[in-house]
Amino acid sequence: MFGQGVNAWRMFVVRKGDRLHGYLNLCPHYSMPLNHQPNMFMSRDGTRIMCRQHLALFRVEDGTCLDGACDGRALDPVPVRLEQGQMVIG
Ligand code: FES
Repeated sequence: MFGQGVNAWRMFVVRKGDRLHGYLNLCPHYSMPLNHQPNMFMSRDGTRIMCRQHLALFRVEDGTCLDGACDGRALDPVPVRLEQGQMVIG
């Protein structure tokens, strides 16, 4: 979690190969967190991001909703990158 009070926000990061993909933990369907438990953001086969609320599926690379209740919308990206093996936000 980052920030405090009404300005607090949560994000998650998916690593695919040597690339990181960061998103706000906020589903575009009902503006709810995607996960019920820590680190449960992926579909069972590990190829898509999955919202556990109503099972919408999102493409890892750009957060586009591919199937489910928010078809055509996308997760809000958070710029992240690796620098000397460390994750950097921004
Ligand atoms: S809140 Fe994510 S699919 Fe409904």
